Amino acid sequence: MLGQVRIENLTKTYLTRQRRGLFKSEKKPVEALKGVSFEIHPGEIFGLLGPNGAGKTTLIKCLTTLLLPTSGEAWINGYHLTQEDNLIRASVGCMLMGERGLYWKLTGRENLIFFGALYQLNGAERHRRTDEIIERLNLASIADRTVETYSSGQKMKLAFAKALINDAPLLILDEPTNTLDLPSARELRMVVRELNEAGKTVIYTTHIMAEAETMCDRVAIIDRGQVLALGMVAELKASLGREEVIHIEGVISAQASQAIQTLPGVTQAVRAAVDGRTQLTVVGQNQRALLPRLIETLTAHQAVIQKIAPEEVTLEDVFIARTGRTLADDTRVK
Ligand SMILES: Nc1ncnc2c1ncn2[C@@H]1O[C@H](COP(=O)(O)OP(=O)(O)O)[C@@H](O)[C@H]1O
Ligand SMILES: [Mg+2]
Repeated sequence: MLGQVRIENLTKTYLTRQRRGLFKSEKKPVEALKGVSFEIHPGEIFGLLGPNGAGKTTLIKCLTTLLLPTSGEAWINGYHLTQEDNLIRASVGCMLMGERGLYWKLTGRENLIFFGALYQLNGAERHRRTDEIIERLNLASIADRTVETYSSGQKMKLAFAKALINDAPLLILDEPTNTLDLPSARELRMVVRELNEAGKTVIYTTHIMAEAETMCDRVAIIDRGQVLALGMVAELKASLGREEVIHIEGVISAQASQAIQTLPGVTQAVRAAVDGRTQLTVVGQNQRALLPRLIETLTAHQAVIQKIAPEEVTLEDVFIARTGRTLADDTRVK
């Protein structure tokens, strides 16, 4: 088998109708995937990390046969994407669109039994799987209520449960912790890890750097429809080479940030709001030598420095170094 998933030069261009004036309209192409290639090995948790609009959901929709790619090829669990789409659907457990994929007038239990039937599990089997999953995900107290009475966190949990119903060897999860509170998110990640340890391969998309770092064996950083970097988390961090990172927090104007950007030795200076404060991430070489000049420049621009520290490189820094943007930036094409 060619790896568990193999993607070769996948592209997807959406054509959206744009209204011009009252009667005229024209189609505008949005290139959501611009030639994506990679392989996923059996048994790994593979992360797709990128900001909103990067193309993660589009890629997942292509891989789960919900959307036809514009060009390129892929094999999932050994099956060809376009020629064996039925076999792919049967061999993948997928969580996409979260709660929107559920029937709100049915109970949680009825939803799971229904989706079990769609996967052609026989009666006994789908009841057994449903009971097992309800137990495993602690859903017993809500399983016999209609989904419309669920909180958004409970709906997400049921959407995750639905991905487990066919006991597929490959789990594809599109931002599964989105809208979950912290304890529920932690619990979900723990179950994903357990399932992975029990042998399941996982594709996990997220726009949250820390999630990709803690969950994933290998990560593809994706931006504007392209894979920017791919490798083990440690490899990606090491790819910054001799570059180092300083995080500065405080009151820092855009002008101060621009002045830092032009200092010799600075590759990127990116300003973002974090919990009401401004954080400036500076990527460059030989930061310790640079530190006095950073402080001098900031002070000259009336910045208030609350914290300044050379720090360990994170996956987000890799993204910042390559793009000059943070993962929080929305890159959707409107
Ligand atoms: N149905 C659609 N029609 C037109 N453009 C779309 C559609 N779905 C997504 N896009 C665009 O494709 C790009 C990638 O979107 P998406 O795959 O949802 O990214 P992500 O999941 O990483 O946030 C964005 O620019 C988005 O606006
Ligand atoms: Mg998405």
